Amino acid sequence: MSEYIIKGGKKIEGEVDISGSKNASLPIIAACVLNGGKSTLYNVPKIHDTEMMFEILKRLGGSVEKKKNKVIIDTSKIEKYEIPEELMRQMRSSVILVGGFLGRYRKAVFSYPGGCDIGARPIELHLKVFEKLGININKNYGNIECFCDKIMGEKIDLDCPSVGATENAILASCLAEGTTIINNAAREPEIVDLQNFLNKMGAKIKGAGTSHIEIEGVKQLKDVSYNIIPDRIETGTFLCLAAINRTNLIVKNSKAEHITPVIDKLEEMGCKLKIEKNQIEINSPKKLKTVDIKTMPYPGFPTDMQSVFATMLTTVKGTSVIVENIFESRYKYTQELVRMGAKITTEGKTAIIKGVRKLYGTTVKATDLRGGAALVVAGTAAKGITKVENIEYILRGYEDFSKKLEKIGVDIELKGN
Ligand code: UD1
Repeated sequence: MSEYIIKGGKKIEGEVDISGSKNASLPIIAACVLNGGKSTLYNVPKIHDTEMMFEILKRLGGSVEKKKNKVIIDTSKIEKYEIPEELMRQMRSSVILVGGFLGRYRKAVFSYPGGCDIGARPIELHLKVFEKLGININKNYGNIECFCDKIMGEKIDLDCPSVGATENAILASCLAEGTTIINNAAREPEIVDLQNFLNKMGAKIKGAGTSHIEIEGVKQLKDVSYNIIPDRIETGTFLCLAAINRTNLIVKNSKAEHITPVIDKLEEMGCKLKIEKNQIEINSPKKLKTVDIKTMPYPGFPTDMQSVFATMLTTVKGTSVIVENIFESRYKYTQELVRMGAKITTEGKTAIIKGVRKLYGTTVKATDLRGGAALVVAGTAAKGITKVENIEYILRGYEDFSKKLEKIGVDIELKGN
């Protein structure tokens, strides 16, 4: 068990470099199965979740070679398509591999995926997509077997714009016969990155970033090298860190256009943001104004920013209201914040925050990846020492978190790992 120990209230300033996007890397790593060859990826964050994807590929016969700033994935020797249960359980995104395996082998065997406990995370939309593409599905004591002779392009109308189901539909149909159309597709920047990566590999996909995506099946895909987009949630986390500490920060390697609603809300609160092509400078005044937020699918306010943003609002005078529309159990971290002196009440989808003058350090537990990051952000601004336990959740998604925080002045120690 590892923990962070943070002495709050230090002067924070300087520059922070944002890593490659976790949520773009995971489907792109899954897509590497499709060319049955070599893919060179730049900017993959070194985090637990990408390591788990590599581990699965290696167990099935692939090779993963890490060099300084790149990873070379060779899937030419993969001959198995059964994703090991113990690895599948460790992360939700392992389900994305299924689309990759179906695309290449027309077969995949897997179990229900694990991941952060932020609410029911069913996969029935993914299975519906596969069925629509003519893939047979057998469910046996928690094991799911998908198989077919060939995948024929189809029209898929998603019930809701699920990110994972959209990605699986793209992956499974790149090498299909004919054209696949996805309506009500998710529009996240990570889907656009997946499209750009696959098109560089030789796929014919258009429309990512809109709710209508078309994939014209091709016969084969080639070797590729690709640079992954910056992590927009890590960017947002550091912007909120600056705001809760009422300081200035330059967030480098970040794309403001990927987090427009977060930028808009920070500006509404009174922060000044200077946006350049690849960096954002934030300047937070001492007095901030309250705001209300509602999480929505992209381009709405991202659910993954909800906990960190709400944490920043705990020290803003007045009342802020948060509505979480995507995941039903995404307020567990608020109980930990209350232990630090925050005034938050939750009822169903809604959280009501009454700003307090200060948060106070104490021992808290990370309850999920983003909720855990929120507690670290709280600790940097709290009076006294905050011990954040269970940080394994945070290490799943933030590369070198404590090192980056130290570099901008946070007094933080990582114990146990
Ligand atoms: C992705 C992100 C995650 C983010 C989420 C929403 C990755 C690796 N993870 O997760 O960080 O929080 O998008 O922006 O990219 N749903 C169903 N049935 C399904 C699938 C989803 O009901 O079969 C529901 C979910 O319970 C949830 C909503 O759809 O309420 C959105 O989920 P989805 O977009 O699929 O999220 P993920 O792809 O799992």
